[in-house]
Amino acid sequence: MMPSVYIKTYGCQMNERDSEAVAAQLVAKGYTLASSEAVADVILLNTCSVRDAAEQKAIGKMQTLAAEMRRTRPEVVLGFLGCMAQSRGQQLIDKLPDVDLVVGTQKFHRTADYLDDIFAGKRTKVVDVGEEQGSEAAIREHILNGNTAESPVTAFVSIMQGCNQYCTFCIVPYTRGGERSRTIPDIVAECRELAARGVREITLLGQIVTSYGKRDIPVRDGKSGFVQLLEAVHEIEGVERIRFTSPHPKGYGDDLVEAYARLPKLVESAHLPVQSGSDRLLKLMHRGYTRERFLGIIEKLRRVRPEMGITTDIIVVLPGETELDFEETLSLAREVEFDNAYIFKYSPRKDTPAAAMPGQVAQAAKEERNARLLALINEIGARHYEKCVGRQEQILVEGPSKKNPARMMGRTRNNKIVVFEGSGRHRGQIMDVKIKRAGSFTLYGDPAILNVD
Ligand code: 5AD
Repeated sequence: MMPSVYIKTYGCQMNERDSEAVAAQLVAKGYTLASSEAVADVILLNTCSVRDAAEQKAIGKMQTLAAEMRRTRPEVVLGFLGCMAQSRGQQLIDKLPDVDLVVGTQKFHRTADYLDDIFAGKRTKVVDVGEEQGSEAAIREHILNGNTAESPVTAFVSIMQGCNQYCTFCIVPYTRGGERSRTIPDIVAECRELAARGVREITLLGQIVTSYGKRDIPVRDGKSGFVQLLEAVHEIEGVERIRFTSPHPKGYGDDLVEAYARLPKLVESAHLPVQSGSDRLLKLMHRGYTRERFLGIIEKLRRVRPEMGITTDIIVVLPGETELDFEETLSLAREVEFDNAYIFKYSPRKDTPAAAMPGQVAQAAKEERNARLLALINEIGARHYEKCVGRQEQILVEGPSKKNPARMMGRTRNNKIVVFEGSGRHRGQIMDVKIKRAGSFTLYGDPAILNVD
């Protein structure tokens, strides 16, 4: 019997996608996927480094696992994958000697080989955090069930790796490396395969998708490589909805705004991280845009698609942020009226300039600003959700609701979750629902007219 593997993922959608690809690569080699840590022969933690709390969570988890396994099943193989593996490398094994495997962000696709070596007794410990040319194209495989009734309705597709922006707070350029893009034909082939297996919605993923193909794909008719990619994916029969995350305001050109006018499968939803509403702070962050430029993009997007759902990321509190800067962030949130915003408490990261900037803000002040911003975001968000009540919305049904598996769940085009009384036969359908009421960042609906798909 081949060993079974359990992968636990921390962090962003890229990490989710990387874990899925590793799992699929392992399955292709004969490994099985364990349903829980308790029965797995291999436990891998795919890690996040964006804030210290995420790193500490994974380290704490590994400590617990190591202690437990030493007591009960010492033969279990333990490993770290991804961003923290990349930034800490061998140190992780020095700190946690029970760890057998450390695989960085350009080596995910080697995981299966390294496990083979460990099980064959060829090696006892493996640390590989090197760079590898072409690794951006190695996140390709999906876990898809042959049975269409069971295969996923939505899928993530990784289009590029890395980031060259070097925002002063951010560790990503160090953990993910420089920008490397896959080719359009390679990505299209992956999307076609997904569509053939029943996937109806594709989310294109990258740390900074607006930089996609910047060095390799010449601008054509005023269209960037990313917009050319969107057009190519739009052509694929069976793909009904296209999303992407995350674009960067700096690279958000008019060609991308216009793509929304031309490409109906591109749904009205934009996650556009702003980080701060203060020009002074945006400069300190090295973001490469002003508040005015950000507001300009939002205005253009809403002109093209009035129903555009807009979400963002905001950091509280960057070193040097004053009460005035913070109030500019509050006023920006009011002005844009985000559907939702993910608020990140600033965490100093290794090797990043912001960690050494003067004016590090005390924890109490961080908590206070965090609470004020959160209250505002919740209030604005609630209004957006309330406004949907009584309307008819088109949703793509993804499957049972996570919170209440007796109900079904889908998403509106502008990315709001709708829960409704339905059944397995609704899965994968694009249908209209009447919104009955709004909860906290959730809508509740009734299948009004069973629309066809
Ligand atoms: N501290 C807190 N939040 C951070 N982010 C990135 N780096 C840090 C940091 N050092 C946030 C940004 C980014 C999101 C994914 O994580 O808001 O958009």
